[in-house]
Amino acid sequence: MPIVSLDSVTKTFPDAEGGARRTVIDSLSLDVAEGESLAIVGPSGCGKSTLLNLMGTLDTPDSGTVTLCGRDVAKLTDRELAALRAAELGFIFQLHHLLPQATVLENVVLPALALPDRGAPAAARERAKDLLAKVGLGDHLAKRPAQLSGGERQRAAVVRALINEPSLLLADEPTGALDQTRAAELVDLLLQLNREEGVALVMVTHDPGQAEQMGRTLQL
Ligand SMILES: Nc1ncnc2c1ncn2[C@@H]1O[C@H](COP(=O)(O)OP(=O)(O)OP(=O)(O)O)[C@@H](O)[C@H]1O
Ligand SMILES: [Mg+2]
Repeated sequence: MPIVSLDSVTKTFPDAEGGARRTVIDSLSLDVAEGESLAIVGPSGCGKSTLLNLMGTLDTPDSGTVTLCGRDVAKLTDRELAALRAAELGFIFQLHHLLPQATVLENVVLPALALPDRGAPAAARERAKDLLAKVGLGDHLAKRPAQLSGGERQRAAVVRALINEPSLLLADEPTGALDQTRAAELVDLLLQLNREEGVALVMVTHDPGQAEQMGRTLQL
């Protein structure tokens, strides 16, 4: 069973001038299998983020079906959908979106609070510490995001996305704000976690070199 499956999905947006709606995603069908890695590439404005948002159930299509872990997401209540998203998906964005007033450890443990049945908060803290150590942030647990470098913040955001052991990691230009060396390190890290944690990875990127490292590329 694919983790996420799009069947003839179409997404339009209203034109700024109130004219005809613009079709951004046009009857697209796509399966993402367990543990695979997929790059999404294409020119600016072609709909990469829109597609990622549809896969992540952050946006709804005009027509077509999005199936997440075997469940038609249109048939779920908001509450059911939020629970499914919290359990199965991890998101990484171009900017880290860490909470400035919380420590690194507090930031990455936060999504675990959305899953009260996933064991004690203490277990999430232990997993967070292990993962933070794995990405080289073991000595930064008590720091605030402002005390980290850009690459370190983005690694913390990766750990936050993984804390609930998702089936699928959705990353929208996660290296967009990093220099080449840090960008390459982050992609290596994502692919390492893809292999070791078995989490499927869908990454939007402008970098052909990054796309080549992924198992498959979707050109929009
Ligand atoms: N909420 C919205 N309302 C209206 N138009 C939108 C909305 N979101 C996206 N669009 C339009 O849909 C198109 C695709 O946007 P999207 O953000 O998916 O592009 P993208 O491929 O991610 O681009 P980039 O590489 O610049 O991030 C763009 O033309 C954009 O203006
Ligand atoms: Mg985008």
